Amino acid sequence: MSTNGGSTLAETYQGNRVSQERVVSYAQLLTGETLAQRTIDKLGLEISAPELQSHVTASSKLDTVLIDVQVLDTSPVRARDIANTLSDEFVAMVRELETPEDGTSPNARVVVEQRASISDSPVIPQPIRNIAIGLGLGLVLGIGLAVLRDLLDNTVKRREDLENITKAGIVGSIPLDKERRKQAAIAFESDNSPIAEAFRKVRTNLQFLAVDNPPRVIVVTSSVPNEGKSTTAINIALALAEAEHNVVLVDGDMRRPTLHKHLDLVQPVGFSTVLSGSASLDDALQETRFRGLTVLTSGAIPPNPSELLGSLAAKKLLSEMRAHFDFVIVDSTPLLAVTDAAILAAGADGVLIMARFGHTKREQLAHAVESLESVGAPLLGAVFTMVPTRGSGSYSYGYYGDAAVRTQSVEPKVGAKHMAPDGNPAQSTVDESANTRSL
Ligand SMILES: Nc1ncnc2c1ncn2[C@@H]1O[C@H](COP(=O)(O)OP(=O)(O)OP(=O)(O)O)[C@@H](O)[C@H]1O
Ligand SMILES: [Mg+2]
Repeated sequence: MSTNGGSTLAETYQGNRVSQERVVSYAQLLTGETLAQRTIDKLGLEISAPELQSHVTASSKLDTVLIDVQVLDTSPVRARDIANTLSDEFVAMVRELETPEDGTSPNARVVVEQRASISDSPVIPQPIRNIAIGLGLGLVLGIGLAVLRDLLDNTVKRREDLENITKAGIVGSIPLDKERRKQAAIAFESDNSPIAEAFRKVRTNLQFLAVDNPPRVIVVTSSVPNEGKSTTAINIALALAEAEHNVVLVDGDMRRPTLHKHLDLVQPVGFSTVLSGSASLDDALQETRFRGLTVLTSGAIPPNPSELLGSLAAKKLLSEMRAHFDFVIVDSTPLLAVTDAAILAAGADGVLIMARFGHTKREQLAHAVESLESVGAPLLGAVFTMVPTRGSGSYSYGYYGDAAVRTQSVEPKVGAKHMAPDGNPAQSTVDESANTRSL
């Protein structure tokens, strides 16, 4: 737009200023109802003036006398027609407004500098931009949810958590293996699967515990039910038996005994029977189909398991077995459910505590450890059970590998086993160059 120019430079400048100020009020005029109505009438549109107004924006650029008019419409042709008609009507309207009553030439003049054309691409929708924004938001939301889930997840999944809570070292990380649901016992002589290797590593690591007084009566327990205690106890015993140790596996779970089922044995004569004096240890012990593994089942379920397990007779029985076997592995109950496991643990050389990966809650594990501490039971180490080998846990599984995993230990072949003359396991040293070790 322009105002009537002056003859001097000062007047021209003044005129420019006036034009710029007018532009601001003209921009409002452009989006006003009168102009909208005139445009509707001219084009014969079937919409209301406020509706059209809502689709029109006019902006004046700073320090210029230009006004940009934008019209949004679902039809690009109609958008162009509205923009052009609106501009024409605006020019006419300004002429009317600025022409003095005496009919002399108008004080200001507006011209259409650039007419509207049809836009090639729609302003909205913009599918690519929208998809990009959608993906971005989705990603942010996804990351947010994952972070939130991790913050809310109070289960034990990290090596540091397990170590810190138990204040003990990790002696093993047992992978999740569906096969174990069908058959708990691993056939070690023919099995080199990851889970068999994991148990061999537990066996190896046991030799590093309490080097001066190696634990031989070991209670296997956990915080809550279903953490893999029985499955782990069976296979630790079998892994030890594989290394030519003479092992007795005792079912110290007198509430929900399972060992006899997993190892195809008869239950009635067992631990409780010997403790009640109804049978001798010799009569109660059962040979298994696995070489080197003898089992003492739970015996008939007694009404007072805690009392029986805390009896002097129980302590004597454990010592008797200790004298006859290289290892006494005792399966037991969950620590948070009943006191049986803590009572058994107090009479043992040490305890291995299981924590089911992504299942056992930190507080549960902490309470379980407290219950062991309260009876003075020595905690030998912690074992991660059912660690996923694929998906989110797979990385962790590798990471949770213990010292033996990192040095890539290879079990010695039969014949290379080290046995002390007294039948106790020899304290072998790790021979990195030969890559062999034994328990
Ligand atoms: N490493 C494993 N991979 C896959 N499944 C497993 C593994 N260890 C145990 N399980 C399964 O988990 C379930 C619980 O195992 P298990 O009976 O050994 O636990 P538990 O702690 O002894 O239970 P409870 O507290 O009842 O005595 C069983 O169905 C078992 O087959
Ligand atoms: Mg069990």
